[in-house]
Amino acid sequence: MDDHHIEQAWQFYRNLGSPKFICAPMVDQSELAFRMLTRKYGTTLAYTPMLHSRIMTESKTYKEEFFTTCPEDRPLFAQLCGHDPQILIKAALMIQDQCDAIDINLGCPQGIARKGLYGAYLLEKRELVLTIVKELKSNINIPVTCKIRIFKDTKRTLDFTKEIQQAGCSILTVHGRTKEQNKDFVGQCDWNIIAQIKQLLQIPVFANGGIYTWSDVERCLQETKVDAVMSSEALLENPALFSGQIKDLNELAIEYMQLAKQYNARLAEIKAHLFKLLYTGLQIHTDLRSKLASAKTFDEHLDIVIQLHNLRAHVNKQDKFGWYKRYQNFKQPQPKDQEIQKIDNIIQQQDLLIQNNDQE
Ligand SMILES: Cc1cc2nc3c(=O)[nH]c(=O)nc-3n(C[C@H](O)[C@H](O)[C@H](O)COP(=O)(O)O)c2cc1C
Repeated sequence: MDDHHIEQAWQFYRNLGSPKFICAPMVDQSELAFRMLTRKYGTTLAYTPMLHSRIMTESKTYKEEFFTTCPEDRPLFAQLCGHDPQILIKAALMIQDQCDAIDINLGCPQGIARKGLYGAYLLEKRELVLTIVKELKSNINIPVTCKIRIFKDTKRTLDFTKEIQQAGCSILTVHGRTKEQNKDFVGQCDWNIIAQIKQLLQIPVFANGGIYTWSDVERCLQETKVDAVMSSEALLENPALFSGQIKDLNELAIEYMQLAKQYNARLAEIKAHLFKLLYTGLQIHTDLRSKLASAKTFDEHLDIVIQLHNLRAHVNKQDKFGWYKRYQNFKQPQPKDQEIQKIDNIIQQQDLLIQNNDQE
């Protein structure tokens, strides 16, 4: 084992302030405005949404549209997807001065990732993953990190994480689900394997998956002994999750809108955020839910936020019917209701955009 690499990885983590509470990479959802909101309420490190390395290197507008940041938006890890080491390096070089690390997406389970050979499908190509980590590490001037899903086979997972560390990965995030645990089959997250990986590796390890409340955050840190906890869906529903306090979601939605205006968030991002932030209130005021689905301008979205705020249609975050729990507790897959389907469609819009670009 290269002791120098391990020491460098820890030095890097400590220089960031040893962050414990992480905002996950989320396509169309971990954009600058949302990152700034969660940072205000306890997030100590945030990831950009996944950026497509090939499109970034080929398109004149992609970087400007999908990679926005500002000096206060630190520490920041930029996540890239792709399978060609040279293209990944080229994309990383375009943004390395504006972030603290380049993260490789080894977890996306969607069909588009199968087609483009990235995410959890790339994880199947052991040698290629290790080459990508090594090549990136030696060609860029910031650390390389990885975010993986687990395999069904525990030994295969453990062996591979060790190899990823040896290849030069400085921080490993483990989403404790397999790529088959997706969409209606999400199911339980395996913290046990995350604990085993933490014990095995020498670099910092982050846990991802299965966090809904502040007590889950504490329990995950305690049970897995990881260095940090990363949240995605629960943070979307409650951007103040990492503050450990219960906040009024209507107030947070207003704050989000201010930041969305300030940082020029795209309407697709705003709409998808509001569906989750206001999920419980919109369950009561279904007329506003329909209005939100068809809203076309920033002001139309803002108007709905204000109306709901005035109605005080707030249901306590601890209520078990929040957005994150909409299917997580089900033993059997349940059909999604129409509005949820709509939200999922919105979330997939960037995938479609990438697909279209792929075809060009
Ligand atoms: C809207 C949305 C977008 C996502 N986009 C990404 C992404 O760009 N990159 C990535 O590695 N994971 C992505 N994920 C997966 C999350 O980062 C995370 O691994 C997963 O949701 C499990 O964490 P959770 O249980 O806290 O939600 C996304 C998840 C959601 C809900």
